[in-house]
Parts: sequence; C-alpha cells; structure tokens
Amino acid sequence: MLRSVILAAARSSKIERLVGTAPVSRSLVRRYVAGETTAHAVATTRTLAADGLLATLDYLGEDTVVVEQADATRDEYLGLLAALKGEGLAGSAEVSVKLSALGQRIDPELAYDRAREICAAAEDAGTTVTVDMEDHTVTDSTLEIVQRLREDHPRTGAVLQAYLRRTEDDCKTQAAPDSRIRLCKGAYKEPESVAYQRSLDVDRSYVRCINALMAGEGYPMLATHDPRLIEIGIDRARWYDRGKESFEFQMLYGIRPTEQLRLAAEGYRMRVYVPYGDQWYGYLMRRMAERPANLAVFARSLWTK
Ligand code: FDA
Repeated sequence: MLRSVILAAARSSKIERLVGTAPVSRSLVRRYVAGETTAHAVATTRTLAADGLLATLDYLGEDTVVVEQADATRDEYLGLLAALKGEGLAGSAEVSVKLSALGQRIDPELAYDRAREICAAAEDAGTTVTVDMEDHTVTDSTLEIVQRLREDHPRTGAVLQAYLRRTEDDCKTQAAPDSRIRLCKGAYKEPESVAYQRSLDVDRSYVRCINALMAGEGYPMLATHDPRLIEIGIDRARWYDRGKESFEFQMLYGIRPTEQLRLAAEGYRMRVYVPYGDQWYGYLMRRMAERPANLAVFARSLWTK
C-alpha cells in the first residue's frame, strides 16, 4: 500500500515541484546519486574501478515530452562516452539509457535514432549500452527497439523485470548468444493483470528467470541486492557450469556497498549502477518505495536544512 502511494507520487509533477523546492537533505540525495555533472560521473567511475568494481552510468531524466530535452540527453551521453574514452575508463564503465528520456513517448522512432547514436559512440569508445526498462506500457516498444539496436550493435543490453508475468518467457526468448540481459525485480507500480503483487511471487519468478538466463547462451546480469537471490545466482551459475566471467552481478550506487566489495573480492564481476544529474526526483522516489524504512528519513529530510 505504502509502496503504491510512493510510486504514484513518483509520477506526480505537483509532488515533484513540492519536493524539488523543499530543503531535501543533500546527504539523502547524495547517498543514491553520484553528483550532477559528467565530471562527477567520471570521478565516481574511477573510485569504483580502484576498488575492483565496474560501473554503468545513468544520466538522470525520464518521461521527456520536449524534443530539445531529448536531444540534450543524447548529447550528454555522447559527451560522457567521449570523457570515458579520453580518461581510459571505457573498460570500467558502460552506460544505461532510458528511452523515455530520449523521447520514446513523443515518437519511438526518434528515441531509436538517438539511442543508435549513443550505441555507436559507445562502440567507438570500446564499451556498451544497456537500455533500462520502464513501466509495462513500453515493454514491447523497448524490447523491439533493443532488438533493432542489436542489428548494428549486438552487445546492446536489455532489462527484464521479474515482477511481470510475461518475463520468464521473455528470458527464454532473449537468452540468445551474445545477448546481455539485466534481470531486476521491477520498480514501477503495475496492475495485477500484468504483474505479481506479492513479493514472494516476484522472488519465485526471479528464480525461474535466473534459471532461464543461466541455461541460455547469453550474458546474464543479475541486478539485485537480495542476499538470497544472489546466493541462488551463484548456485545456478555453478549448476550450469558457468565461469565467473560469463555473468555479472549489479547493484545500485549507495546500496549494500560492503556486499558489492565482497562479491568483487571473491572474483565475481560486480557492476554498480551510478545515476548522476539533477533530475533525481523519480529515481529517488523509487528507491524510497523499495524500503519503507527510507521513507521516515526522507520525510524528515523534507523539513531539515
Ligand atoms: P528488494 O527490494 O527485496 O531488496 C533486497 C534488500 O536490498 C533489502 O532488504 C535491503 O537490504 C536492500 N535494499 C533494496 N533496495 C534498497 C533501497 N532503496 N535502500 C536501501 N536498501 C535497499 N528496475 C526497473 O524497473 N527497471 C530497470 O531498468 C532497473 N534497473 C536496475 C539496475 C540495477 C543495477 C539494479 C540493482 C536495479 C535496477 N532496477 C530497475 C530496480 C529493481 O527493479 C528493484 O526495484 C531494486 O533493485 C530493489 O530490488 P532488490 O532486487 O534489490 O530486492
């Protein structure tokens, strides 16, 4: 119930204005967001790399309905990829892109064009792109665009959300040679007709999806902080005789950092999703919804300088 309310607020521009003008504690935003500029993203990548961690960098922003803003987002990614290349960090970081920030809701074809430019720049820099997954109304459109991006850039990654009832089948279809699939639980408010509502059902689906991805021929990217699912991932990789280089774990910046280091020290590929930029509202609200305990901290921070 609380999760639904927070996720509804994540989509409300009125509440966004209220929160945006409130003295939200800088430390709360900083816990989850690496900074505002390309330089912050690059510096964070360098720090993570020094600890043996990989990164995927996300320039914050979503649901763009202004063409100029979609172009500006593309330009930011092109600048970021040039900076990663210039700093010799392209081996340590890839980028994560939301199609809605590239104008998917205005015209999916234009979002595809912008994503294709980003994929080309990533390839030129020596790295890859993963296309984030948003709510279920754009699942088909997003997977279709990723499929087209893969024609020229086969290592373009897709994201599948275990809370969707369709996802086990999608995992089986998508786990083709060379594919890169990030499996997450799913962060949006979805109706019962398309998504499991009980966390136990989501977890069970996640396990079935791990099996489908590990049994397939692609590169699974297990994006979760859930200790049980991480153990199951390790167990399933052994079962399917996969080496540690044939899959990776992913976690969000600021969440379970000690566990991130532990997995990296044990030789697993561990990638940290690093958001940056000033459009942090929707992202932060989804993080609040994942952990009700965070809400008290958040509420206090609204009234604290
Ligand atoms: P769960 O929410 O059950 O958390 C397990 C444990 O992790 C908690 O008990 C707690 O200890 C810790 N934890 C989790 N969230 C926390 C938080 N916010 N603050 C503090 N502790 C927390 N979703 C989506 O819909 N589309 C996408 O493209 C992506 N992309 C993505 C990339 C990466 C790298 C990650 C890790 C996650 C995503 N997600 C996502 C988000 C994902 O769908 C999901 O909402 C979160 O990962 C939380 O789910 P967990 O699997 O961590 O389990």
